Amino acid sequence: MEQYDENDILDGELTEGLITLLDTPEKVNQTKKFMDLLVGYRELMMMYTCAIKEVRTKFEVLDTEFSVRNQRNPISSITTRLKHTNSIMAKLDKYECRFSLENIEKYINDAAGIRVICSYIDDIYQIADSLLAQDDITLVTRKDYIIDPKPNGYRSLHLIVRVPVFFAKYKKDMKVEVQIRTIAMDFWASLEHQLKYKQNISNQQEIVEQLKSCADVIASTDQRMLGIRQQIEAVADAMTEEDILLEKLSRMDMNI
Ligand code: GTP
Ligand code: MG
Repeated sequence: MEQYDENDILDGELTEGLITLLDTPEKVNQTKKFMDLLVGYRELMMMYTCAIKEVRTKFEVLDTEFSVRNQRNPISSITTRLKHTNSIMAKLDKYECRFSLENIEKYINDAAGIRVICSYIDDIYQIADSLLAQDDITLVTRKDYIIDPKPNGYRSLHLIVRVPVFFAKYKKDMKVEVQIRTIAMDFWASLEHQLKYKQNISNQQEIVEQLKSCADVIASTDQRMLGIRQQIEAVADAMTEEDILLEKLSRMDMNI
């Protein structure tokens, strides 16, 4: 009870304060617009959160199906993130656009982000192709930094896709940034990312060179690991008819 009373007093003070501040119709109008923007922003972020869920589920479904058919999981892990408000503001600022819901939707492609970590390079393309083949997914942009790595050695497949999200009273197409990379590429990118937050490193150039050299080693290791896996699979394919039958039977119990 006591707390409710306190809040009443606070609410009363706040309202009084606002009334003193909002002493002209223009100020009232501006405050209302600001409040509308805040409410709309919260709603938009809710929509991006739901879009992330949609795309995440699509990847999880693909992983489950693949694992039942091929006895291994192509996806090692999935992480998601909603872009922070200050990063959204900074990006709009960089593009010299004002902060509005329309501009966020138009210019910010990575408000909703999902990172899919695969074991092997061929998994990346298989998973990406399967996602893009779905008839509710529209490709907005595709950047293949695996075929064309960045000068620093960064490798990943980047897709911006649109996905429809069904809400209680409407449906909305939302943009989601998808980054797909191998475990090794992710390991490298995490370390390289730390460089961005360090200033005045005396041996910066040397670190950049070491990272580039590691990126080359990682690229070649990814290729070799894929080659080894394919050799092992080729051997497994040489089973007898009886072995194949027995293996099929052992797959009856799904472990998902
Ligand atoms: P932003 O970087 O988001 O402004 O967009 P962009 O148009 O430059 O897109 P790009 O597809 O090149 O990169 C998008 C995201 O990929 C970044 O926000 C990072 O998460 C990741 N990324 C791109 N380049 C690098 C890199 O050199 N190092 C690391 N660690 N991550 C990178
Ligand atoms: Mg980004």
